[in-house]
Amino acid sequence: MYILFTVLAGLALLAFTFVKTFFPYFGDDCSYILRSLRLGMRLIRYKKIKPFYSILDCFLDAARRHPAKTFVHFEGQQFSYGEVDKQSNRVARALQAAAQLKEGNTAALFLPNEPAFIWTWLALAKLGCTAALLNFNIRSKSLLHCFSCCGAKVIITSTELLDAVEEVLPVLREQGIRVFLLSDSCSIQGIESLSEQVSQASDQPLSWDLRANVSIRSTALYIYTSGTTGLPKAAVVTHERVWAASFLQAACEVTADDIFYINLPLYHSAGFLIGMAGAIERGMTIVLRRKFSASQFWDDCRKHNVTVMQYIGETMRYLCNMPKKDNEKDHKVKLAIGNGVRKDIWTEFLNRFGDIKVRELYAATEGNIGFINYTSKIGTVGRENILQKMFFPHALIKFDIDTEEPVRNSEGLCIEAARGETGLLVGKITQRSPFIGYAGNKQQTEKKRLRDVFKKGDLYFNTGDLLRIDEDNFVYFQDRVGDTFRWKGENVATSEVADILMMAHCILEANVYGVKVEGHEGRIGMAAVTLREGEEFDCSDVYKQVVNYLPSYARPRFIRCQPCLEMTGTFKMKKVKLVEDGFKPTHIKDPLYFLDTQKKTYVPLTEEICEEIASRKINL
Ligand SMILES: *[C@@H]1O[C@H](CO)[C@@H](O)[C@H](O)[C@H]1NC(C)=O
Ligand SMILES: *[C@@H]1O[C@H](CO)[C@@H](O)[C@H](O)[C@H]1NC(C)=O
Ligand SMILES: *[C@@H]1O[C@H](CO)[C@@H](O)[C@H](O)[C@H]1NC(C)=O
Repeated sequence: MYILFTVLAGLALLAFTFVKTFFPYFGDDCSYILRSLRLGMRLIRYKKIKPFYSILDCFLDAARRHPAKTFVHFEGQQFSYGEVDKQSNRVARALQAAAQLKEGNTAALFLPNEPAFIWTWLALAKLGCTAALLNFNIRSKSLLHCFSCCGAKVIITSTELLDAVEEVLPVLREQGIRVFLLSDSCSIQGIESLSEQVSQASDQPLSWDLRANVSIRSTALYIYTSGTTGLPKAAVVTHERVWAASFLQAACEVTADDIFYINLPLYHSAGFLIGMAGAIERGMTIVLRRKFSASQFWDDCRKHNVTVMQYIGETMRYLCNMPKKDNEKDHKVKLAIGNGVRKDIWTEFLNRFGDIKVRELYAATEGNIGFINYTSKIGTVGRENILQKMFFPHALIKFDIDTEEPVRNSEGLCIEAARGETGLLVGKITQRSPFIGYAGNKQQTEKKRLRDVFKKGDLYFNTGDLLRIDEDNFVYFQDRVGDTFRWKGENVATSEVADILMMAHCILEANVYGVKVEGHEGRIGMAAVTLREGEEFDCSDVYKQVVNYLPSYARPRFIRCQPCLEMTGTFKMKKVKLVEDGFKPTHIKDPLYFLDTQKKTYVPLTEEICEEIASRKINL
């Protein structure tokens, strides 16, 4: 009876996690179940243990156990666990003195992918603070918005990103937000350099009392996601969620002797939680890169004896697009963890780079449901199984792409999609699988909640993703609903782009969407616009607007001028038809423009340009 209880408790616990979804179907890999159970038991222990044992404590234990072991390789430098620990002590003390940061405060990290990101985060954790991880590509309005939702009173940045901070400095100062620079002194008034204080600070451990009140339910991080509408949303990541996500490597049988290659940004959950926090959980070594590079990828892997890599669909494709080399299979990578790889690329990847186990997963930072491919089926994101259905109720429901709403029957309830049919994934919100929501954004949080799904009064998390489950219970990711599209591995929130476009004088209205380009993953930005009375499309002004305010992946590369924009019954702009129309002048009568990065302006889109895109003479 006791055993049964522990097993059930173990299963129940996995709820909070990605891990929850790892149960293989009966008859499959038993060790997998055992591993998941063991992780589930650990999470139970962490929930009960007093004082609370956080990922930081796990790091401190690792630093005590093997201080000399390399934690991070970065651009030819190495930092051991002991060194990173000491450096974070110094940063913590400097921040404590200069910014008076203390338990419960939030600080924004606006830093590139470099080791300082890691030790500054550790420093904040040592002070009991919450870190808001800002995407270093964002600028101006979006950057400011990230502050207002997490309530940070401090931003920590580095020289590289100084321009972006300077641009919004007057507003930051008005709001009483202090700016600290990790590098050398800075002559800009209102920006305080920390480097001297850091180098003079003691590297002795900080008292545990500073974070005595932090519990498993406290907010550890804010991670920003581009949601279905508007500006970035700050997903609340509790310590429980940090633990759960960091177990993913363990669940994939990664060990302390593995070397993990992080080339994804640390401001997203993949790089930070699965990659870095997972590495801490394992006590392993990571190889950190500033930016993904397809040409350097395998050289890096060989140089550092990398055994586990992380990917997104786009990076897999870039690797496969590289010219073939003789030594392609000459590396030690045996495992790849990630999401979004398409079937054809997956197959090609295995053919070219050898026998690498691909662990494709489906999950969202803020979501309450996920899947992982633990079988040997190419192209799936996992399997649905009875246990998962029982403990984490979820369903695919029929969805109307045109209205972008679930289909409802005469009683106002949703309809489950048939086997094999694409539907919207919804996960029941329960104690076991909570949906915590977005900081300072009740409206967006509410939007992700779906009521009256199968019964009046029930409550589900709307993932906004379309999936399909086949006869054999394999799960396939199909697409993201509506307003968000992905390009170069980043989610682009279309209304944010539209807001920027409408700041250009000539543009009256804008409807932004993503279109497919042959040979490219994701969708590239395109906008249908209407012009103000008597105005012509002003190529250089629109270009300036777009380049000044949007990161390159979010810029609409194609613009279509229409006499008027079509709306749905609920005054949402119709995108489906536009997406289907694509960007080719052969299909479209309206005037079309192309963002020419060489000429630094928009130019009329000609068939010639389209050919150059197809032949890859023009790089998108
Ligand atoms: C931490 O908890 C103690 C005891 O409950 C309380 O007195 C103290 O004010 C708390 N500190 C913070 C920063 O919340
Ligand atoms: C990689 O492995 C080889 C052989 O196992 C070893 O000789 C080499 O020193 C290792 N390189 C690094 C950077 O650890
Ligand atoms: C996922 O699919 C790949 C491709 O066949 C397979 O090699 C791998 O074993 C699968 N699952 C896991 C958990 O590795």
